[in-house]
Amino acid sequence: MRVHTQDIALTVNGETVRHTVDARKSLVDFVRDDLFLTGSHVGCEHGVCGACTMRVNGVTVRGCLMLAAQCDGARVETIEGVSDSGELSDLQRAFEQRNALQCGFCTPGMLLTAQELFAGNGAPTREQIREYLSGNYCRCTGYHAIVDAVETVAKQRNAQK
Ligand code: FES
Ligand code: FES
Repeated sequence: MRVHTQDIALTVNGETVRHTVDARKSLVDFVRDDLFLTGSHVGCEHGVCGACTMRVNGVTVRGCLMLAAQCDGARVETIEGVSDSGELSDLQRAFEQRNALQCGFCTPGMLLTAQELFAGNGAPTREQIREYLSGNYCRCTGYHAIVDAVETVAKQRNAQK
C-alpha cells in the first residue's frame, strides 16, 4: 500500500521542527512517536476523553482529532512545554496537594483544560469548573479532588490580583 507523506515545519514548545509525516498521522501520535513527547496521552482516539489535549496556535485542541500535516506552520505546545514554562506550577502543586491524580493518565489534559478555563474566566465557580472539565475523563479520582484543586487555584490567583 502506498503511504502518502508530507513535509511539515512547525514549532513545538518553542523549537523549530521539520519532519516528514504520514499524511494520516494524528498530531498526538506525531508528538509522541516522532518527537518522543509522551506527556500527551492517547485514550479514546475519538475526541471524547481529553487525554490528548494540547495547544495549537494558543488554542486548546484534541491532538487525536488533528492531523500532524494540518499543523504545518503552526505553533504547537504540549504539556511538557507548558509545564516547563512555569505557567501551570500552581495548578500542578494543587493537584499534588489535593490528591487530584492517581494514575496520572488524565492529568496533562486536565491541567491544560483548567488553564484554558482560567484564560476565559478568571473567577470560575465550582459548578463552572465541573462543567468545563466535563469533557476530560478521569477513571480514577471521582473528579471531586480535581475540582477541589482547580477551585483552590482559582481562589489563590484571584487573591493575588
Ligand atoms: S485520545 Fe483524544 S480525546 Fe481521547
Ligand atoms: S488519575 Fe487516572 S485517569 Fe485520572
